[in-house]
Amino acid sequence: MNLKQKILTGMRPTGLLHLGHYVGALENWIKLQDDYECYFLISDYQALGDHVNEIEKIRKSVIDMVLDWMSVGLDPKKSVFIVQSYVPEHAELALLLSMIIPIAYIERNPTLKTEMNQLSKKDISLGFFNYPASQVADILLPKAHLVPVGEDQIPHIELTRQIARKFNKLYKDIFPIPEPLVGRISRLVGTDGKAKMSKSLGNCIYLSDSKETVEKKVMKMYTDPKRIHATSPGHVKNNPVFIYLDAFHKDIKQLEELKIKYKKGTIGDVEVKKILIKTLNDFLDPIRKRRIYYNAHPEKVKEAIVQGTLRAKDIARETMKEVRKAMKITNYEDVVIRATNL
Ligand code: TRP
Repeated sequence: MNLKQKILTGMRPTGLLHLGHYVGALENWIKLQDDYECYFLISDYQALGDHVNEIEKIRKSVIDMVLDWMSVGLDPKKSVFIVQSYVPEHAELALLLSMIIPIAYIERNPTLKTEMNQLSKKDISLGFFNYPASQVADILLPKAHLVPVGEDQIPHIELTRQIARKFNKLYKDIFPIPEPLVGRISRLVGTDGKAKMSKSLGNCIYLSDSKETVEKKVMKMYTDPKRIHATSPGHVKNNPVFIYLDAFHKDIKQLEELKIKYKKGTIGDVEVKKILIKTLNDFLDPIRKRRIYYNAHPEKVKEAIVQGTLRAKDIARETMKEVRKAMKITNYEDVVIRATNL
């Protein structure tokens, strides 16, 4: 019997992953793989919400994202990788649960509100508006106990908890009430000093960037705008170079000494940037090595997706049988079997 608790979490396949994804989510996921039964979802249905005209791009991103995942050390032997649209039970559960989700719960979701503000009103589809509900279904389908996510996802987990409780009370006690688990650094600044590393802002360092690209990006990085000469005292706080050093430098003592020197004005920006380049490249090197391996063995990436999805399908089928029974909806699988037996 499997006594491990379950985790479900996921990402939209909309492009390459960057350092922000690592410290905000992936780092936690990697650690949790040994102690939990982990389900990692590639939410391509959800990605359609605001990329409906870019299906080809999403298809490509599914593979790229799994390649990113395997390169950082997510292991398909330990964890289950699922492509959402290959398990249409996600859509079925989302539909059934949407019957017990008041529209007001969705309307007041702060993450959704922010995202909707970035789109023009005519571009907001019903599917997009409904995505928090579909995320509830993602989490409940494998009956997850824990959902490791970035801070922006907390409202969706809160909604999931409310709906799981409501379902359990209305129909049958089927679902655990899942807990969120937030990453070490919920929002990593961009290389331009803007609040968030984000593909659309063009301020990312990608997990797949080469040594040379990292070097170029760091050399161009925003530092302390108030510092005019390398010998004048610098500010460490809110300085992206030091934020990244805090996130990735392994030797805390050395880093403290560096900060002291910077504040005194005895070390220049270029020197600090060189230290950051080495820190980031040391961090990225093992990831690059694994990527080279998986690039040479694309069948392993595809196999991880197929095996994971098959496993998820079995689990989804079981949960849906329970859900339909609890809601007194005819189990169509029985209907199909009976019909073919006529
Ligand atoms: N919304 C998440 C993102 O933007 C992806 C996601 C889909 C997810 N389903 C999920 C996260 C379920 C956690 C749990 O990346």
